[in-house]
Amino acid sequence: MELIDRILYLKKEKGALIVAHNYQLPEVQDVADFVGDSLELSKKVAQMENRLVVFCGVKFMAETAKILSPEKTVLLPRPEALCPLAEMITVEEIRDFKKNHPRIKVVAYVNTNADVKAEADVCCTSANAVKVIRNIDGEEILFVPDRNLALWSARFVDGKKVIPWDGFCYLHKRIKRKEVKEAKNRHPDAIVLAHPECDPDVLDLADAVLSTSQMLRYAKESEGKKFIICTEVGLLHRLRKENPQKKFFVPRALMCRNMKLTRLEDVYNSLLYEKYKIELPQEIISRSREALEKMLEYA
Ligand code: 13P
Ligand code: SF4
Repeated sequence: MELIDRILYLKKEKGALIVAHNYQLPEVQDVADFVGDSLELSKKVAQMENRLVVFCGVKFMAETAKILSPEKTVLLPRPEALCPLAEMITVEEIRDFKKNHPRIKVVAYVNTNADVKAEADVCCTSANAVKVIRNIDGEEILFVPDRNLALWSARFVDGKKVIPWDGFCYLHKRIKRKEVKEAKNRHPDAIVLAHPECDPDVLDLADAVLSTSQMLRYAKESEGKKFIICTEVGLLHRLRKENPQKKFFVPRALMCRNMKLTRLEDVYNSLLYEKYKIELPQEIISRSREALEKMLEYA
């Protein structure tokens, strides 16, 4: 049997659900039941009845799914698939910061580890950061860990002081303004869509700044025929599949090495051996769940 058929057979036999992030390898996306951004996937896991879930993405995403569905078995096919951005803030650093800023509210981007979420007042995603900051009850906000998302969101929130943590996504940082300008010169009629993890001078060139799934919706609904996409190259798979009549370009083809670790063999082994299980202490689950639920309430 082909590997894909073996995966589909095993998935059916075990009643499992496979979800994949928009940056996963095309063949992994194609074998998944749902493909989406980090939050959509966790919400999907929570909605579905399946007790066994294979999460093709990076660890913080699978953890978020586990936090929202603690009764389910959530598997991460490659346990070393970490997001370097999520590793840029620790619980101790937040606690130290709070000592000197007793009234500070902490907003944690979902790209954080579960213990950091547990320390935060509320979580947010790239899709809802502005709404969360607007609605949080507090004037002074520490936003962790992504500096660019913090600065971008702060542009749309009056009357609040947003203090950005100095974290960054190494991949989005590599997208340079000069390259985006060159891409615009090559395709002057193209619409520029950028992820808010890009540097501010790149975001200034964008027609819209969106999460990965918001880009998919924008491209589908837009009258535009050409798009310059400033994010990880994996998103092109769905963009092209769902919009065969439109053209998509990237300033530079950048791959997130962590997102690309998961291959079809890993998905198969994950299903077969039910590995690697996401395990979190009960106390972390309940505290981080509060921050995630508050996000859903605010946004
Ligand atoms: P999205 O939530 O927009 O899919 O982004 C996740 C991510 O890791 C971006 O680099
Ligand atoms: Fe993390 Fe950046 Fe990879 Fe997204 S693209 S998972 S933020 S390293």
